[in-house]
Parts: sequence; structure tokens; C-alpha cells
Amino acid sequence: MDLGLTGRVVLVTGGSRGLGKAMATAMAAEGARVAICARDEGSLAQTAEEISGTGATVLPVVADVTSAEDRGRLMAEVGDRLGSVEVLVNNVGGNRRGAICDTTDEDWQAIIDLNLMSHMQLARSVVPAMRERGRGVILFTTSIYGREYGGPGMSIYHTTKAAVIGLAKALALELAPDGIRVNSIAPGSIRFPGGSWDKKCQADPEAMAAFVKAEIPMGRFGAAEEIGDVVAFLASDRASWITGACLNVDGGQSRSLI
Ligand SMILES: NC(=O)c1ccc[n+]([C@@H]2O[C@H](COP(=O)([O-])OP(=O)(O)OC[C@H]3O[C@@H](n4cnc5c(N)ncnc54)[C@H](OP(=O)(O)O)[C@@H]3O)[C@@H](O)[C@H]2O)c1
Repeated sequence: MDLGLTGRVVLVTGGSRGLGKAMATAMAAEGARVAICARDEGSLAQTAEEISGTGATVLPVVADVTSAEDRGRLMAEVGDRLGSVEVLVNNVGGNRRGAICDTTDEDWQAIIDLNLMSHMQLARSVVPAMRERGRGVILFTTSIYGREYGGPGMSIYHTTKAAVIGLAKALALELAPDGIRVNSIAPGSIRFPGGSWDKKCQADPEAMAAFVKAEIPMGRFGAAEEIGDVVAFLASDRASWITGACLNVDGGQSRSLI
């Protein structure tokens, strides 16, 4: 199936490793011109080199998406080098674990800025050009733990990931008349080398084998490429009737009925 992404200008935040790297790789393989950003220059450059080795156009931009100055520079550089963003994938995300009463305002603010505010701010900044063109796609990476409880210590993650689902839905309804589609994806537990699940597997393989058996009906962790492929589809015109959705990609891991 030709996804029709050839030549499209795509920006994936947090594209240097893990899910973001797989998303950028999948869309580059479909002919998109892909910009990726992250804070660490070395890993960003290495990923850009890997993807461009396949013949794709890749623009790495070192930027911290929680900094207004960096976001401005990022959008300017992508605009100058590739053109205005036609597909934005807000993918950065993180957590500060702890019981609510043990967390500080600073913990909350840092993750709200990373998981929610930066997503909203970047989304807002791409809308004018998308409106002018009469089309565009904005995607957000949330989590199954934005839809249901995932265990103790996850309160900041739960709150911000649930908020992103709400943000995506509201934005989808606001922008539908402009031909701009907005969706979120909710991955389950995805293992890739050096990622958080990989580290847990290295540290305690038996506990992780028990976790997989109990929690993931398909009996294994997801792979980053399985997220990348779904994002490439949602970014494409093949998903033209999908907007305002939150799509679980989790091997059956989530338990929510809605
Ligand atoms: N892995 C999973 O099982 C899983 C499951 C559900 C949802 N998710 C969500 O999927 C997304 C990606 O997860 P992942 O596991 O691939 O994460 P990851 O391995 O921690 O990678 C995060 C990416 O974001 C970049 N990044 C972090 N903070 C940034 C900032 N302030 N500005 C710019 N870039 C920043 C990182 O590079 P630098 O550190 O160099 O900046 C890296 O490229 C997150 O939103 C996460 O919550 C992951």
C-alpha cells in the first residue's frame, strides 16, 4: 500500500531513539522528508545518519521542546530547510515517579511542561500553515496509562498522559473544518535496546517474564517498529477518516472497556 507520504514534511519530537526514532524511520521509508529533534546532539546525529543512509532526507535539530527559544529555533530551521510542517508528531515524554504526597511542585511542573505544554505549544505553532494549505496531521504519543491506572508512583504520568488525550480530542474537533486531522496513540509496554523496559528486563528478567505473562495477552513486549508503522499510517491520507481518536497499540495489554 502506498501511503502517499512522499515529499511530505514531517517533524518527530524525541526522534533520536526509541519510539520516535522508529516513527521517523517508518515515515522516511515512505519518502517523507523528516526532521527529528532531541537534546543530545551525538545520538541525534547518529540516528539522522542511520536514517539518511537509506537515501532519505533527514534534518536533525538539537532542541529542548520545553524551551520557548528552542521551539522557535526548531520551527524556523525546519521551515527554512524543509518547508512548513505537514505532519507533526509530538512524541517526547517522561515521568518522575513517586507517591503524590512525596512529589514536589517542581516534579509536577517539569513533567507537565514536557508531556503536555510542549505538545500543545508545538501543535499551536504548526496550525496556521496547515490551515493555509487546507490539510495537515498532528499526532500525540500518549500511553495506555493515560487511559487507565498503571500502578503506584505513576500519578504525574497518568495525569499528563490523560490530559494529552483530552488535548488531542479537543484539537481534532476544532481543526476538522480546516482539513487537519488530530489523533493520539496509546502504546503499551514497548521494549527496545536501552529503553526503560529493556533496562527492567536486564535488571530482573524473571520478574519481567512474569509481568509479560500476566499483563500482555500477546505474550511479549511490543517493538518500536510496531509503533512506527501505526504512526506512518495515521500520518497518511490512508487514514483520512480518522480524527479525534486515541488508538491503543498494546498487544491487548490495556483493560479499559472504552
Ligand atoms: N517505551 C514505552 O514502553 C512507552 C509506552 C507508552 C508510551 N510511551 C511514550 O512514548 C514516547 C517515547 O517513549 P520512549 O520510550 O521512546 O522514550 P525515550 O527512550 O525516553 O526517548 C525519548 C526521546 O525524547 C527525547 N527527549 C526527551 N526530553 C526531551 C526534551 N525536553 N526536548 C527534546 N527531546 C527530548 C530524547 O532524547 P534526549 O534525551 O537526547 O533529549 C529521546 O529522543 C513518550 O512520550 C513515552 O511516554 C512509551
